[in-house]
Amino acid sequence: MNLPDLSLITRPVRDSQSEMAEIVLPNDANPLGALLGGRLMHWIDMAGALAAHRHSRHYVVTASIDHMDFWVPVHIGDLVILRSSVNRVFHTSMEVGVKVWVENYIADNCQHVSSAYLTFVAVDGGGRRVPVPAVVPETDEQRRRYEDAGRRREIHRAERERRNAHLR
Ligand SMILES: CC(C)(COP(=O)(O)OP(=O)(O)OC[C@H]1O[C@@H](n2cnc3c(N)ncnc32)[C@H](O)[C@@H]1OP(=O)(O)O)[C@@H](O)C(=O)NCCC(=O)NCCS
Repeated sequence: MNLPDLSLITRPVRDSQSEMAEIVLPNDANPLGALLGGRLMHWIDMAGALAAHRHSRHYVVTASIDHMDFWVPVHIGDLVILRSSVNRVFHTSMEVGVKVWVENYIADNCQHVSSAYLTFVAVDGGGRRVPVPAVVPETDEQRRRYEDAGRRREIHRAERERRNAHLR
C-alpha cells in the first residue's frame, strides 16, 4: 500500500476548531461553590486534545501546558464553554490554544475566564511519535496565533535547555 506523502497534506485551522460545554456541578466546586482550578485544567486538557485529534487524526499526548491565570470566578450552575483550535504544527508536536468562557444564563452574561496554550505530540498505537500534517491559517487572527506560537516555542525551548543545564 502506498502511504500518502505527509509533506503534501495540509489542513486548515477551521478543521480543528472544537467546542466543549460543561455545567458546573457541586462535585466540581470548593465549599464556597466556586469551580476548582484543577477541574478547569482537566477540561482545558480535554478541549485541547479534541482539536489536536481532529487535526492530526492520531492519538495525542500532552507534552506541556503553559502558564494559566483564572480571571473571574466560576460558580455552581454556570455554563463553561471551551473553544480550541490548532495554532501551529511543528513536526510531531502542535500547539493548541484553548479559550474558556463562562455563561450565566440567568444573569444573561458571558465572561472570558482563562486562556491556555498546550503542546500535544502525536503518537501511533505503539506510542511512537508520528509527523503531523501542516496547519494552514486562513484569517488574520489565525495568522497572528501561528506567528505567536513560533515565538513561544523558541522561548520554551530556551527555558527547557536552561533548566536541563541546571539539573546536570
Ligand atoms: C512528550 C513526549 C512524547 C516527547 O517525547 P521525547 O522522546 O522526549 O521527544 P523529543 O524531545 O524528541 O521531542 C519530540 C517533540 O515533542 C516536543 N516536546 C518535547 N517535550 C516538550 C515539552 N515539554 N513541551 C513542548 N514540546 C515538547 C519537541 O519539541 C518535539 O516536537 P517536534 O517533533 O514537533 O519538533 C514524551 O516526553 C512523553 O511521552 N511524555 C509524557 C506524555 C504524557 O504522558 N502526558 C500526559 C501527562 S501525565
